[in-house]
Amino acid sequence: MPSEKTVFDPNPALAKSAYVSSMSQYKEMYQKSIDKPDEFWGDIAKQFHWETPINYDKFHTFNFDITKGPIFTKWMDGATTNICYNLLDRNVRNGHGEKIAFYWEGNHPDDYSRLTYKKLLEEVCRFANVLKNKGIQKGDRVAVYMPMILEAIVTMLACTRIGAVHSLVFAGFSADSFAERILDCEARLLVTADGAWRGEKLLQLKSICDQAMAKCSQKGHNVETCVVVAHLGRVTSPQGTQYSSNKTPMTPGRDVFWHEIVPQACTSCYPEWMEAEDPLFMLYTSGSTGKPKGVLHTTGGYMVYAATTFKYVFDYKQNDVYWCTADIGWITGHTYVVYGPLANAATSVLYEGTPFYPHNDRFWTVVDKYKVNQFYTAPTAIRSLMKFDDELVTKHNLSSLKVLGSVGEPINPEAWHWYYKLVGKERCSIVDTFWQTETGGHVLTPLPGAIPMKPGSAAVPFFGVQPVLLDESGKEIKGEGEGYLVFSRPWPSLMRTLFNNHDRYETTYFTKFPGYYCTGDGARRDADGYLWVTGRVDDMLNVSGHLMSTAEVEAILTENPAVSEAAVVSKPHPVKGECLYCFVTTTENGVFDEILIKQLKQAVREKIGPFAQPDVIQNAPALPKTRSGKIMRRILRKIAVNDRDVGDISTLADSSVVDQLFASRPQGA
Ligand code: WT7
Repeated sequence: MPSEKTVFDPNPALAKSAYVSSMSQYKEMYQKSIDKPDEFWGDIAKQFHWETPINYDKFHTFNFDITKGPIFTKWMDGATTNICYNLLDRNVRNGHGEKIAFYWEGNHPDDYSRLTYKKLLEEVCRFANVLKNKGIQKGDRVAVYMPMILEAIVTMLACTRIGAVHSLVFAGFSADSFAERILDCEARLLVTADGAWRGEKLLQLKSICDQAMAKCSQKGHNVETCVVVAHLGRVTSPQGTQYSSNKTPMTPGRDVFWHEIVPQACTSCYPEWMEAEDPLFMLYTSGSTGKPKGVLHTTGGYMVYAATTFKYVFDYKQNDVYWCTADIGWITGHTYVVYGPLANAATSVLYEGTPFYPHNDRFWTVVDKYKVNQFYTAPTAIRSLMKFDDELVTKHNLSSLKVLGSVGEPINPEAWHWYYKLVGKERCSIVDTFWQTETGGHVLTPLPGAIPMKPGSAAVPFFGVQPVLLDESGKEIKGEGEGYLVFSRPWPSLMRTLFNNHDRYETTYFTKFPGYYCTGDGARRDADGYLWVTGRVDDMLNVSGHLMSTAEVEAILTENPAVSEAAVVSKPHPVKGECLYCFVTTTENGVFDEILIKQLKQAVREKIGPFAQPDVIQNAPALPKTRSGKIMRRILRKIAVNDRDVGDISTLADSSVVDQLFASRPQGA
């Protein structure tokens, strides 16, 4: 396996036509973005429409030092704009009205459609008017639980047009998780679909929403309106059966079908002018205490940064077709399916299904069908596709591809090479983009025409981003070394707060190292200055790119009356990256058996979502604890991978526990 010394230069043909075509050009632009951030971002901001002009004398202010006062970040404060206006009206005015904004590709290959910028604008205005009719006003939260269909994007943009704050929840989360999020943001209106096919699986989205809304009502919060897209009746089911929307249970007075109210609404809607620092959307991400955090992004900075990263990181040119496979329920879907591409008048593919339906070459079929130039997916998808015959890739014409993106977790060199050689034919650049829900956009990444690639390294900071590595005591590590990955100043799309909880925002991200935004990840800097993200340094797990906390899973396990204590650690997994390995201690009367294991796995699926199902549940008569009672997870991680090299265990209250746990590892774990 080539080591980190192996460096892959960008294809010279790609470099030649790229916006940034050499390391020296990158360095020059980067330096300007750091030395003169107001000028750098100010020039970019001028390409957008501002209803109230930007005050360039006070372009951006911030405080990252908790010892000096409250944490805040402001960009272009006081200027007003509307992101929907900039994404749609501005592009239509600039001659892109007939340009395709989205090619929609359904789960079934027979289902597809397209939408131009002009038509998208009309649909957005219609739905914006519907939202207004339903009493939704600037600042109100709208919950969205949608499959990958065009109405999801229409919904998001309609919210932004009237200044409502959308709060999407990935439609793979359980009713419990969804209810918790609706309650936290006090959503007044919910948008969903009757259901959707993912491969051969039918997702009953409306019924999950019904359960979630019922749970909210029990807690005293009533969702006033639920708009339902009748989607199943218009698509081809894998079995060829016909679905009728009459089957969808609708609660009179609350639930209404999209097709019964949207088509007759007016196709124009004057945009609400929003301050640059007004909330744009919120999106929940897991927190290490178990309670999800409502990350809040604001309007102006997010718009400018999403647009800029999309342009440079994918080197998007006007006739290109771009495809990001991420679900819109995640931040990648927000910034790089919706906001970034539309801000650049791009043409994108929106795909509803899985990589495996109807065959394991669906991704490559779609790349060929739409002649995709930039393809953006996750390492877990790459790893699951690597298992199949090369022929599934090689039989398709993938010559349109120029840039291949990776996001969500570190990409292992083996997957990187497969992606580079087999999919990219050694002609394409791979952009390994490191970022977070909180960062709003890419923060570490190579640029495809300029930065030589090292497999597994997210390379260099994007413009305006200043990464720092710190040791445990908060001392900066200069040059080569490994430490906590932090940032010493904000870029325009850094989250501004956690919804209704600025205290938690300050403690989670700004308290450990005053003066820095703390990512929660570790990273290493090599001799060339490249950054290698090594993974979470907190109690978070990344399963197939889904972030979750050990605490939230432990809380679910201990809810079972047979369980007295639980500890969850991550174990490396060949496809998912990491998987959940759970240790449970039963109560005096509890019995550890197959039934309990099944119950616990089911509980995690139901409370969080199917993607969170644990791989292993091990009986732990006792857990390795220090004398002060702290569980030593380091040791549990060793047991999970059956590595006897556990290191120093002298601080354990009872060290015999370790041998016991090694001996009782379940077969095949
Ligand atoms: C966490 C953020 C960014 C959108 C998807 C996930 C990990 C993400 C990379 C990468 C190494 C990565 C980090 C980060 N991560 N991208 N290219 N290399 N690690 O968003 O759910 O907020 O998760 O994902 O651990 O902190 P998220």
